[in-house]
Amino acid sequence: MAYKPRDHYAKRAKEEKYPARSVYKLKEADQKYHLLRSGQKVLDLGASPGSWSKYALEKVGKKGLVVGIDLNPVKINHPRFLFLKGDIFELSPEEILREANVEYFDVVLSDMAPKTTGDRSGDHFRSIALAERALFLAERLLKPGGVFFVKVFEGEAFPNFVEEVKNRIGPVKRFRPKSTRASSREIFVLTHKKVKDTKNRGD
Ligand SMILES: C[S@@+](CC[C@H](N)C(=O)[O-])C[C@H]1O[C@@H](n2cnc3c(N)ncnc32)[C@H](O)[C@@H]1O
Repeated sequence: MAYKPRDHYAKRAKEEKYPARSVYKLKEADQKYHLLRSGQKVLDLGASPGSWSKYALEKVGKKGLVVGIDLNPVKINHPRFLFLKGDIFELSPEEILREANVEYFDVVLSDMAPKTTGDRSGDHFRSIALAERALFLAERLLKPGGVFFVKVFEGEAFPNFVEEVKNRIGPVKRFRPKSTRASSREIFVLTHKKVKDTKNRGD
């Protein structure tokens, strides 16, 4: 039988006890860009079935916190994990902070995706809407210097989205993991929230 990379990642996820092969996308980005560190507070948007949250929990350790949000359940029972079941468009930044009992997050991850319909343009625009919502939340919830890492299905609105991320958060890197299926148009956008220059403000 021909070798299929996707089978390799799915098999590996099963062996390593992650609920989804998507964990290797985050892991590859983390190995390259050092997104996750001990003690961080991480918000994981689109967390179900839970492989990113599980990986993030391993990285943030005993003093960290991972908050996952999704329409669908996540089966992780861990003292440093909080799951909020719901629609990201209906949860306000203030509610998220209140539920998590924190003042900010160090990292906002989003692997959110719409249910794909086969209509590439429609799927692209639904993905952009989710990424825009993630951007809105990241802008309000990240501390200066914090990391925003978000998935988008590429298409005509992608360049505009990248511009918005640049203007509202900080300089952008585009990342396409090796484990992304060849047929997929997904791409990840990575940025760090600008730390305001206070030198010339006179305060
Ligand atoms: C590719 S999966 C995430 C996989 C996850 N990162 C993991 O590693 O286990 C995309 C998720 O986005 C979620 N999602 C889509 N629209 C959403 C919305 N409006 N609010 C919350 N979650 C949403 C879906 O329910 C789905 O579980």
